[in-house]
Amino acid sequence: MGKYDLSFDLVDRSRQVNQLAAFMRAHRGPYNEVQHNAWLEDICIPGVNSGERRALAWWQNGRMIGDAVLKAAGPNTAELKNFRVASPQWLQGRGLGAFMLRQATVEATELLVERGLVSNEANAVTLMLDTLADSSAAAFFAYQGFREVGRAELYTPGQQEVIMELEVPLE
Ligand SMILES: CC(C)(COP(=O)(O)OP(=O)(O)OC[C@H]1O[C@@H](n2cnc3c(N)ncnc32)[C@H](O)[C@@H]1OP(=O)(O)O)[C@@H](O)C(=O)NCCC(=O)NCCS
Repeated sequence: MGKYDLSFDLVDRSRQVNQLAAFMRAHRGPYNEVQHNAWLEDICIPGVNSGERRALAWWQNGRMIGDAVLKAAGPNTAELKNFRVASPQWLQGRGLGAFMLRQATVEATELLVERGLVSNEANAVTLMLDTLADSSAAAFFAYQGFREVGRAELYTPGQQEVIMELEVPLE
């Protein structure tokens, strides 16, 4: 076992999707277990299996420590779902969250290009996400350049989610 032994890759649909589902189930955050499982089993995992959604994951010594699920949402727009960092505490504050986000951002652009969703005249694409309002995750995304574009009770009555967007310049 290495001291660091960090790796990341696209989730291999035939081999790693069950590990991804277990990771997401274990890190559902403040969201209702029944609702979250229904979304996971009926929408998210079938989407990853069919290729409609693209999942990235990070591992340390074979244990999943982070994931990001991407979805093409329309012309020049992708959505980042379920960005989770659950790295061991000693690994926090070392740039892993920022690195993961950067890879997800690059991959989101590639996904849109592959799907023919980037128009010729576009000089940027938009990466959208929603997360619990006023949370440390929201503060992290704001620090990484996302701007708030709205708030809504998307999943749980009485619980506000913040909708955020990042403009990703095309190279
Ligand atoms: C918030 C979280 C994703 C940050 O990951 P991390 O690997 O510890 O953060 P990094 O080391 O990559 O931080 C990169 C930069 O973001 C800043 N940052 C980190 N967390 C922040 C926060 N909550 N608010 C504001 N800035 C933050 C860091 O200070 C650092 O700044 P620098 O580049 O100027 O040095 C992670 O610690 C965490 O809380 N994980 C558990 C919950 C979770 O997964 N939330 C995300 C999605 S819903």
